[in-house]
Amino acid sequence: MSKVSVIGAGNVGATAVYYIAEKNLADIVMVDVVEGIPQSKGLDFLHAAPLREYNVRIFGTNNIKEIAGSDVIVFTAGVARKPGMDRMDLLKINAKIAQEASAAIATYAPDAVVVVVTNPLDVICMVVLKETGFEPARVVGQAGVLDSTRFRYFIAEELGLWTGDVTAMVLGGHGDSMVPLRRYTSVSGFPIDELLDEEGVERLVERTRRGGAEVINYLKTGSAFYAPAASTVKMVESIIKDERRLLPASVYLNGEYGYKNIFLGVPVFLGAGGVRKILELPLSEDEKSALDNSARAVEEGVETLESLYEQKIL
Ligand code: 2OP
Repeated sequence: MSKVSVIGAGNVGATAVYYIAEKNLADIVMVDVVEGIPQSKGLDFLHAAPLREYNVRIFGTNNIKEIAGSDVIVFTAGVARKPGMDRMDLLKINAKIAQEASAAIATYAPDAVVVVVTNPLDVICMVVLKETGFEPARVVGQAGVLDSTRFRYFIAEELGLWTGDVTAMVLGGHGDSMVPLRRYTSVSGFPIDELLDEEGVERLVERTRRGGAEVINYLKTGSAFYAPAASTVKMVESIIKDERRLLPASVYLNGEYGYKNIFLGVPVFLGAGGVRKILELPLSEDEKSALDNSARAVEEGVETLESLYEQKIL
């Protein structure tokens, strides 16, 4: 049985544990700094095992050493957005949390693949890469699957179709400038432009960009977690089973798509060991300039991160 450790037992972390268990994917360790939270949630999950028919181990703890031997680490620790906040507003506090966790990951789970979920996603990936010292293939950010699944859902809802028949790719950073690619969006192979007019597609693109904010505005006390956790587990499954699914994910770019030294959402094959390959799609001028715009937003975040290092805050 593989081992997955989920760092951060808040809503996203705990829901990821739930989905991993329901699929019998791996033994799970859930770690959190708050005493009693991971223990209580772990025990509660186990009580449900006879009914939900999972037979994986679930262990909640405050001791980060328990991540030892993990195949995959899911990093969800940190604070979430509240209404009116941008994902970048979370940078200072979450970067510090990521820095500390990364040191523990490098020590106790040196062979793991880290799936980063904490926002601001693309910048926190950079912290994890730097602080673990892992090779780039083993640090991958969850965002594109979430943004794409929202887009897929909105299209299916609009057309009154089964959500599973819609495929879509949302690239770029996990922010308002994300890049839903219309040209690579289809329903059972039929291009979306054959089924919806331009205005219709644009409306759904806009709703996708604001998908996270729409949930926050209802919830008020925090951000989305069911769809983020489901997206995370899709990636975990592909890694653990070496499925090599083609998924959009935030990965370290070293020249691909013309970017260097940033994490950005692009299509990748995810399998054993993390990112098996980055797929370079031909982009139109408009698509490339939208991706450039999104990359600039991430670059600004990375500059802020660098200033935190310079000021010795990190
Ligand atoms: C979202 O888009 C939390 O960033 C996450 O909902």
